[in-house]
Amino acid sequence: MEMDSTAAANYASNWFNVQNVPKSYVFPEEVRPGELPPVCHTLPVIDITKSVQADTVQHIMKASREFGFFQVINHGVPAEILLDTAKVLRDFFEMPEKESSDSGGKRNWVYGGSTSFTRNGFDLWRENLKHPCYPLKDCMEHWPEKPTGYREVVSTYVTEVNKLGNTILQLISRGLGLEVGYFDGISGVEILSANNYPPCPDPSLTLGVLKHHDPSLITILYQGNVPGLQVLKDGVWISVGAIPNAFVVNIGNQLEIISNGIVRSALHRAVTNSSEARLSIAAFINPSPNFIVEPAQALVTELSPAQYKPTLYKEFVNGTNAFGPHTKAMQRA
Ligand code: OGA
Ligand code: NI
Repeated sequence: MEMDSTAAANYASNWFNVQNVPKSYVFPEEVRPGELPPVCHTLPVIDITKSVQADTVQHIMKASREFGFFQVINHGVPAEILLDTAKVLRDFFEMPEKESSDSGGKRNWVYGGSTSFTRNGFDLWRENLKHPCYPLKDCMEHWPEKPTGYREVVSTYVTEVNKLGNTILQLISRGLGLEVGYFDGISGVEILSANNYPPCPDPSLTLGVLKHHDPSLITILYQGNVPGLQVLKDGVWISVGAIPNAFVVNIGNQLEIISNGIVRSALHRAVTNSSEARLSIAAFINPSPNFIVEPAQALVTELSPAQYKPTLYKEFVNGTNAFGPHTKAMQRA
């Protein structure tokens, strides 16, 4: 699809307004995605308005064990908030002078452009904006000041996703049989990370994000209506369908540890597409610094001994690498 002239003008100074993929973005054959797999229709889509029903818990648990991924619909976050947030983030990525969105030298956000994500000599087809969100009131003072309304819109989004994150953790907690209040001390959305994946002339050669596990408890991802997320299931990459207004939820390393291996933190990656830019918004739900990340007592028995070592969350963060396949804290006991 041709870009219209306004879009082309907005993107004109960027790396991706090209006919052919520049060499540094062409991944080696064994890593590049090649032909895209069809959308996977067995990846569960769970209606959580019915969260009081026992079968919702069962659906979530089955998906968390088998895929480490599921989608939620009727989650209670108003569609308008999703659209407003996606818009303000797209507007951020379209600003020619991102660095001018400063907050008097005390900014807490990081922007990474086209050549900021070099992995083993290869560049990712991606740009990213990342900032902390906890505690929200303090953090938001140091978020981007532009585009106008950024702080208000994004803080509303974070507040809503915090509520949803709590609901999902409660359901998983119930499914695992953890004691009531197990997740009471969590911070909620600790980090928000927004990605823009521009259209790419040859998506079979490039990657938006390399395969990785999330180091979070859970991650709540909004991807609008443009697919691009892939999950490794039984050694095969499968595509997560893009359902408008849905959220993709995935189990992170910490929840795998807490569950003593019952639920899984699955490998996933993002690919590009040739027709339209894809925006994704990842909210990483984490505990507070002094939370001990360890298999829950209720799940450690003589028959199923602890499979992971306890780690303070703040040390877990230091020893972990979001983009590495293994983390120190994941080492088995
Ligand atoms: C992430 C991630 C996938 C996507 O940010 O951790 O996996 O679709 N993103 O952008
Ligand atoms: Ni991820």
